[in-house]
Amino acid sequence: MIPTARPSLGQEELNAVGEVFSSGWLGLGSTTYEFEEAIKRRLGAAYVVAVNTGSSALHLAIEAFGIGAGDEVIVPSLTFAASVQAIIAAGARPVFCDVDEDTLLMDAADVERRVTPRTRGVMPVHYCGQPCDMDRLLVLAERQGFAVIEDAAHAFGSTSRGRIIGSFGHATCFSFDPIKTITCGEGGAVALADGEAAERLRRMRLLGIDKDAWRRQGQAKSWWYEVTAPGWRYHLPNFCAAIGLAQLRRLDEIIARRRAVCLAYDAAFGELASVRPLRVNYEETAPQLYIVKVPADARGRFMEFLAARGVGTGVHYLPNHRQPFFAPYAAGALPRTDRVAGEIVTLPLYTDLTDAEVGTVVETVRAFDRMVARAVCATPTRAS
Ligand SMILES: Cc1ncc(COP(=O)(O)O)c(C=O)c1O
Repeated sequence: MIPTARPSLGQEELNAVGEVFSSGWLGLGSTTYEFEEAIKRRLGAAYVVAVNTGSSALHLAIEAFGIGAGDEVIVPSLTFAASVQAIIAAGARPVFCDVDEDTLLMDAADVERRVTPRTRGVMPVHYCGQPCDMDRLLVLAERQGFAVIEDAAHAFGSTSRGRIIGSFGHATCFSFDPIKTITCGEGGAVALADGEAAERLRRMRLLGIDKDAWRRQGQAKSWWYEVTAPGWRYHLPNFCAAIGLAQLRRLDEIIARRRAVCLAYDAAFGELASVRPLRVNYEETAPQLYIVKVPADARGRFMEFLAARGVGTGVHYLPNHRQPFFAPYAAGALPRTDRVAGEIVTLPLYTDLTDAEVGTVVETVRAFDRMVARAVCATPTRAS
């Protein structure tokens, strides 16, 4: 079976982890700080704080901007549950918005309609690696006085109008989980423009322990510490950062291969009647997922047809406003999300996918399309 995703790992990653093992310092330490510096340089970001998952990156970013009880954060329903749980974990209320049907990106016009006096944040999700309309969202945020917390779990290496995602905006949250563009095994990071917010984030990732106070006293009493804020154990350990550093060195090659696969799929599927790719600008997108739409009544058959021929598929995502735990937060119709939710299918996309495997996926999808076309032709019309 060709899976939908898998990490691209080799000797470089293994050597990097081996070095951390030999050092005996597995937890938060110099490799983590080195990884933060490397991301900062790559993105051109003012501050970068590395954490243990993309989910904790989102949670801490919301906390760092003081968003909590009584506040609202606007988020697309069509995202991973992590985006929504992060808002709820901070004590705020998720307000679901709709997406554009061609790109599945947050619809900025719908965001504007959902702003209230309680809105303290908006969470654009750079779905599949495509950049949301950041300019429009940042202007709106400026006007209304709220923060833009980007869920860039899919978008490490993507750009928006020539600027790399994470180099501008308020807080950009990345995931380095096993199937992301680059991985730490598990990991995440927040890129920020505001030094004070970055400092709050650093404190919160390590149980609210004040490092400055620690340093002030550290000389005299190495065991002394001060807890000055709420906090969690969310830091990125050295052994995960080591994998991330090795992956970061290969980022250009990784993005190039993933783009080539997506462009090959786009070229092959452009003319099909039953299978439609999203409208993605691959000049700006470091692709994380490849998604097609099929008619809702054919999706189950499509996925079974591919599985029977050794091609894995998935669905990213089930809309959150339909999830039992999130449904109480749902308010107002999300017609485009509801429509596309039944149509989307994720096809295999990963760095080490071979040309032969791409060929198998393409031929299998084409075979399904021919079968659907034959079935439509064979269906007797009223006149016949
Ligand atoms: C859109 C989105 N947001 C957030 C996350 C959470 O990242 P992590 O798995 O590193 O916690 C993911 C991971 O799949 C994701 O796809």
